[in-house]
Amino acid sequence: MISVLFVCLGNICRSPAAEGVFLDLLNKKSLREKFHIDSAGTSAHHIGERADQRMRSHAAKRSIELPSISRKLVAEDFDKFSYIVVMDESNYRNTIRLAQSEDDKHKVLKMADFTPSYSQGEIPDPYYGGASGFELVLDMLEEGCEKLLTYLMKKEV
Ligand code: 4NP
Repeated sequence: MISVLFVCLGNICRSPAAEGVFLDLLNKKSLREKFHIDSAGTSAHHIGERADQRMRSHAAKRSIELPSISRKLVAEDFDKFSYIVVMDESNYRNTIRLAQSEDDKHKVLKMADFTPSYSQGEIPDPYYGGASGFELVLDMLEEGCEKLLTYLMKKEV
């Protein structure tokens, strides 16, 4: 089983979308049973909430469901997951802070490293912006999840 945790700030926009896009990809490729997938946030502000309604409706237009309920990232996640994929530099710093070892630190990957068609360097936070920001996040995640899956499958064989 390959375990992947997607992480953003609130765990209501970007990481639930990454989780949903990745799950959709796994289902399409009949790889669902090979993976354990979850998402979490570095902040506690939205614990217990479903994904943001705007993120859910933009994802639904692409036939992607977002099953996530927001929870906070904890140090024990490093024991449970082989890969932790963060959306921006702030998530990266806050996630690395919870690592207990160098091995833990090597588990942390940046989603933007898998989106070569975009020059952003991060998956931009869409929370305070308009519809185009949510569409950009989904466009970036569709490329990022595809390339991430290729990377993981190569590494795990
Ligand atoms: P996310 O987006 O990190 O992609 O879930 C945000 C959600 C909430 C807030 C900021 C970003 N907030 O400030 O409440």
